[in-house]
Amino acid sequence: MEHPKKFSPGTSAIVFLLFAGFLYICVWSPSNPLLPFVQPSGSPKDFTPVEFAVKDELDLALEEASMRNKTVIIAVVNRAYVEQSVNAETTMLDLFLESFWLGEDTRPLLDHLLLVAVDKTAYDRCMFKRLHCYRLVTEGVDFGEEKVFMSRDFIKMMWRRTFFLTEVLRRGYSFIFTDTDVVWLRNPLTKLSLNETDDLQISVDKYFGSRRPEHNLINTGFYYIRSNNKTISLFDKWYSLKDNSTRKKEQDVLLDLLRHGVVTELDLRVRFLETRHFSGFCEDSKDVGAVTTVHANCCRHINAKVRDLTAVLRDWKRFKAALTKYPKAARNITRSFGWSRHDGCLNSWKPQTLT
Ligand SMILES: *[C@@H]1O[C@H](CO)[C@@H](O)[C@H](O)[C@H]1NC(C)=O
Ligand SMILES: *[C@@H]1O[C@H](CO)[C@@H](O)[C@H](O)[C@H]1NC(C)=O
Ligand SMILES: *[C@@H]1O[C@H](CO)[C@@H](O)[C@H](O)[C@H]1NC(C)=O
Ligand SMILES: *[C@@H]1O[C@H](CO)[C@@H](O)[C@H](O)[C@H]1NC(C)=O
Ligand SMILES: *[C@@H]1O[C@H](CO)[C@@H](O)[C@H](O)[C@H]1NC(C)=O
Repeated sequence: MEHPKKFSPGTSAIVFLLFAGFLYICVWSPSNPLLPFVQPSGSPKDFTPVEFAVKDELDLALEEASMRNKTVIIAVVNRAYVEQSVNAETTMLDLFLESFWLGEDTRPLLDHLLLVAVDKTAYDRCMFKRLHCYRLVTEGVDFGEEKVFMSRDFIKMMWRRTFFLTEVLRRGYSFIFTDTDVVWLRNPLTKLSLNETDDLQISVDKYFGSRRPEHNLINTGFYYIRSNNKTISLFDKWYSLKDNSTRKKEQDVLLDLLRHGVVTELDLRVRFLETRHFSGFCEDSKDVGAVTTVHANCCRHINAKVRDLTAVLRDWKRFKAALTKYPKAARNITRSFGWSRHDGCLNSWKPQTLT
């Protein structure tokens, strides 16, 4: 019973008021930079002020990461992509970042990468790496665990992503979207069309050389989209189909849209990116002299992707080292180059690896 003697009722009241004021600032002030860290716990109604703060944070994050022409590179990460399991030597995020270091003319691009973290661990990891980070809060969902391809939560996470990206377009930013299981070996801006009339340039699993949407197997793991009314309409339309597309992932919904006339309807110009430049495990680029990105597509599990992308970076380092050592044999080295087999990913579809 020491305290009542030390503090007069007046002092207690002041302390109480100060504390209440502090709480008020912490919890309610829309300008409070701490807010995005707050875990959602209240009802949706309690959360209205947070929405404002999150929007301001997004503006800020986009501004910081953007090139002068309002273009950003966006990747989404969750805990499974940033945390090392006991036996792993690296993480997907680290491999992804390492590729910007090893690639040609890719280091400056890191300044324009906005990492969107869907859980706190991913956000902390991003901040630790001193990158541009944005925390995407979703109420009542834990996006931290690995989401196995086509599981319910996987699909939910993908839709949340589409909603977020629509918002980015609405704010006037064009962007290159990249999954983090894509390694960047060269600067893609040198292989993308910079013609302003091209609205969407998207990677494919297999390239058939056709410009017709119905002939292309798009992959939303890598694309470049310009912000304009047509692309905003496209994304709005895409997202609006969320609840009428059970058991379909968002990529298939977009594929359906493209195949069923949305391109003509919205007067969109869509280009499908060649696997020669934008390679993947579904179809390897046959030209290491032109390859820009490599996507661990056609692969089911993160461990397999990490393993096989590590091999891709090893192949690339060997290739670059050989070029440095024998500059006169560059043609031969390029022609005789072959990618390592993607055994981890091939096996990831077998039932026994699911355990
Ligand atoms: C935007 O600016 C970057 C960096 O200056 C440049 O590489 C890129 O080609 C520009 N994008 C467009 C669409 O002009
Ligand atoms: C962009 O593409 C359009 C349509 O193909 C073409 O008419 C125009 O000349 C191109 N612009 C540039 C700068 O290449
Ligand atoms: C896009 O839409 C906005 C608002 O509806 C309109 O003001 C603007 O002129 C449109 N821009 C183009 C290029 O159609
Ligand atoms: C869902 O899709 C089906 C088939 O395309 C269509 O007939 C139906 O009207 C859609 N329902 C809603 C609610 O959009
Ligand atoms: C390239 O390879 C061919 C046959 O493998 C060989 O005859 C030629 O000398 C090589 N050229 C160089 C510059 O190493």
